[in-house]
Amino acid sequence: MADIKLSGIRKSYGSSEVLHGIDIDVKDGEFVVFVGPSGCGKSTLLRLIAGLETISDGELQIAGQKVNDLTPSQRKIAMVFQSYALYPHMTVYQNMAFGLTLGKKGPLGGLLGGGENKKMIEEKVHKAAASLKLEPLLKRYPRELSGGQRQRVAIGRAIVRDPNVFLFDEPLSNLDAALRVNTRLEIARLHQELEATIIYVTHDQVEAMTLADKIVVLNDGYVAQCGTPLELYHQPANKFVAGFIGSPSMNFLEATVTDIGPEDIEVVLSSGKVKVRLPVLPGDLALDARVSIGIRPEHLQEGSGEVFRMSSRVKVVEQLGEASYLYLENGEDDPFCNEPFCVKTNGHSSIRTGDSVDICAALSAVHVFNASGIALTRTTTDSRYIAPRRA
Ligand SMILES: Nc1ncnc2c1ncn2[C@@H]1O[C@H](COP(=O)(O)OP(=O)(O)OP(=O)(O)O)[C@@H](O)[C@H]1O
Ligand SMILES: [Mg+2]
Repeated sequence: MADIKLSGIRKSYGSSEVLHGIDIDVKDGEFVVFVGPSGCGKSTLLRLIAGLETISDGELQIAGQKVNDLTPSQRKIAMVFQSYALYPHMTVYQNMAFGLTLGKKGPLGGLLGGGENKKMIEEKVHKAAASLKLEPLLKRYPRELSGGQRQRVAIGRAIVRDPNVFLFDEPLSNLDAALRVNTRLEIARLHQELEATIIYVTHDQVEAMTLADKIVVLNDGYVAQCGTPLELYHQPANKFVAGFIGSPSMNFLEATVTDIGPEDIEVVLSSGKVKVRLPVLPGDLALDARVSIGIRPEHLQEGSGEVFRMSSRVKVVEQLGEASYLYLENGEDDPFCNEPFCVKTNGHSSIRTGDSVDICAALSAVHVFNASGIALTRTTTDSRYIAPRRA
């Protein structure tokens, strides 16, 4: 069992605190992905779990045992970095076997016994190599491999150590687009095959959405929200997560509350041109309160259907083949605020730059956030997932 529990984890470098009390539960066998903007603390958190950095405050448990003071090797964790960190003077085989020839027994069973015999090492390396399609490359040196092959060796080196937990820090970011897709599928397959607990850091939305059982969105050293990929997509707890998950990002419009009912509110956009009743739990909203309206590009369509309706002029059209993105004008006479406003249409759309379009969205696809950025449309209001502001 390799449940991981982080309770109130803090990390400071000198007088500067970069992680402000992180609570995360990772279940045995779960694939958890950390995402967040550059500098939000993803790698630091991973390094704290690995034991490569000391924890300033809080408790880290693995399999029910406090491991704050254990060395990396005693934690039975393997880490795969963005830079593969292979030994250049060793062959693929030697690189993969290296971890097996070192190591001491620790309280959690140790990384691997130093006494493992040659045959067992051979078996482990060949099994991992077969699973990663590295067998034909075992005699080569890292300089004779492509980036994708090197990354597979780095993953193989982690696998042979048979860890309870794998930590990956942006393992695919050095690979080209096609290799990323292949290696991503490999990692998904490995997770099923190994039944290991995996914590994975990435910048890539698609990696996060497709690989994760659970995504943790970090922002500025706090957990902004933690949930399944679809929970984060459909029920973002706050404006930060709403804007971060999904590509292109959710559109936001500023509005003012003009009426409050028991189960809905009426708002008018800042431009004064659109007035709509939205089905939200008003909480402690007051009349005249400022709110943000959020609508994803893929939830807008041409036409003047059900509800949230607007018209504008098209500034830019991006044609991707299967879809086109329309970027709508934000002029004085425009119903939109200052933000660019993106609409996803089908790839056959004949709309061109300069055209006027009517667009609409179903009310169920409209998100509303209060002035602090907290979602009013969400059904739960678990305060653990709402990033507190720094004092
Ligand atoms: N050794 C260090 N000394 C001082 N500050 C550090 C140190 N390591 C990281 N930091 C700071 O901690 C914060 C979090 O860094 P971290 O590397 O965890 O970010 P990240 O989320 O992994 O970013 P990226 O997506 O760019 O990799 C940053 O502000 C960084 O400058
Ligand atoms: Mg990082």
